[in-house]
This record gives sequence, C-alpha cells and structure tokens, in this order.
Amino acid sequence: MRKKIVAGNWKMHKTLPETEVLIKELRELVDTENKVSVIIAPTFVNLTSAVNLAKGSDITVAAQNMHFEDAGAYTGEISADMLQVIEVNTVILGHSERRAYFCETDDILKLKAIQAYKKGMTNIFCVGEKLAERKENKHFEIVEKQLINALFTLPAEAFEKIVIAYEPVWAIGTGETASPEQAQEMHQFIRKVVEAQYGKSVADKLRILYGGSVKPGNAKEIFSKPDVDGGLIGGAALQAKDFNAIIEAGKS
Ligand code: 13P
Repeated sequence: MRKKIVAGNWKMHKTLPETEVLIKELRELVDTENKVSVIIAPTFVNLTSAVNLAKGSDITVAAQNMHFEDAGAYTGEISADMLQVIEVNTVILGHSERRAYFCETDDILKLKAIQAYKKGMTNIFCVGEKLAERKENKHFEIVEKQLINALFTLPAEAFEKIVIAYEPVWAIGTGETASPEQAQEMHQFIRKVVEAQYGKSVADKLRILYGGSVKPGNAKEIFSKPDVDGGLIGGAALQAKDFNAIIEAGKS
C-alpha cells in the first residue's frame, strides 16, 4: 500500500503573518493518524518560519523551486544547500507555472532533478499537458516526454525520493478538474512508463499525485482511484478547513 500524500502549493500567496496564522490553524485541525503525509510549500522568505511553526507536527515543509547549481552568480535564485540548512528537504520542481512563466525547459528541469537527487532531496516533479495538447490527443505523448527528458537519466534509486504530480494545465486554477477516470488513466500510464524504464518494483512504489482544482467536494472520488496517491493542491490549500478536509479524504 502506498501512503497517500496531500501537498499544498501555496504559490505566491500568504505573507509572513498570514503564514503563521494558517500553520497554527492547520496544527489545530490536522490529525493524519499516520495515514497521510502532509506537505506545505510556502514562498521562500517564509520557509524558515514555516519550518519552526510546523516542528513537532505531522506537516513537512517544502520549497516551490530551486536552482540546479550549488552556488554562484545567479541573482534571485535559491540553492539546495540554502534549503537544507533550514531543514527543507523537499522541493516542487517543474510546476507548469514555472515552465510557462519562467521558461523552465525539460533540459533545465533535468539539471534540477539531478541536483535534488545528488542532495538527497525529495523531488515532487510536475508534469501535465495543455488544453490544446489534450484536444489534439497528444496528452500521453507530452507527459511521457516530460518524464523521459527530465528524469530518465537518473538511476533507479533516485525514484525512492521522487513523487510525480500530474497536473493538467487546463485544470489548474480554473475550477475545471480532470474526471477521476481521466486522472486514473494518466496515472496508470505514468506508472507504465516508469515501469518500462525502471521495472515493476520502482513503479509500484512510486507515488503519483493529481493536481488541478482539487477541492473538499471532489477529493475523495479522485483519491479513490487505484493509481492516484494523493494530491497537489493550490487554491484549496490556502484555507485550513478546506485543506484539512482534503487530508481527511486522503485517509480512506
Ligand atoms: P489549483 O488547486 O488552484 O487548481 O492549483 C493546482 C496546482 O497548481 C498545485 O500545484
């Protein structure tokens, strides 16, 4: 049995005082009963506070991005060491917003994935097709390429710390969700692609999260699908009650 993960990507939301309030609320509400792994990804400047506020709880703090070099003249960037020194050992890589607005290509993401592996960090790696690509029936091909190009030079052992997040771009922040059947179909495909490259035992252990307008009202049905191992949540992760309801949906 793969333990489900419910991760909240806070994107560019929540100031420091707001971060403190939300984590305090979550600490009061969330009881994972050790059935779900809970992750939150606040913005960089609030990570230190978030780590301190989450200490002793079941909540793990992640970053939303990082650079692939150890250090250097990269104005505005954040390194793996900077994150790990403040006890952040999980990072979201390849989110479609990073790909679309910050020109992150498969080649860049490959370097970032290598860096996460070298540093022993958990890599929540995002893949997903755009609406036009789905309409042209290219969604499987697109997702397969994203996986192969960025991840498949890594050795099998790297997959112990890789989580895939399937986030169809057309479902992010739009209120439109992939149907549970569409999610299952893609997750099963992703597992097959990983199995073909790395074998069944790696594929069987891999957690594949669905992201894209997951809400308290639809989480349970999406999470009930056999290849859906939890969710990467945007908007609904910004409200403690909603996020907790999604965590609860992950328990069954
Ligand atoms: P929404 O849940 O707001 O659609 O965002 C999903 C997402 O992009 C999580 O990374």
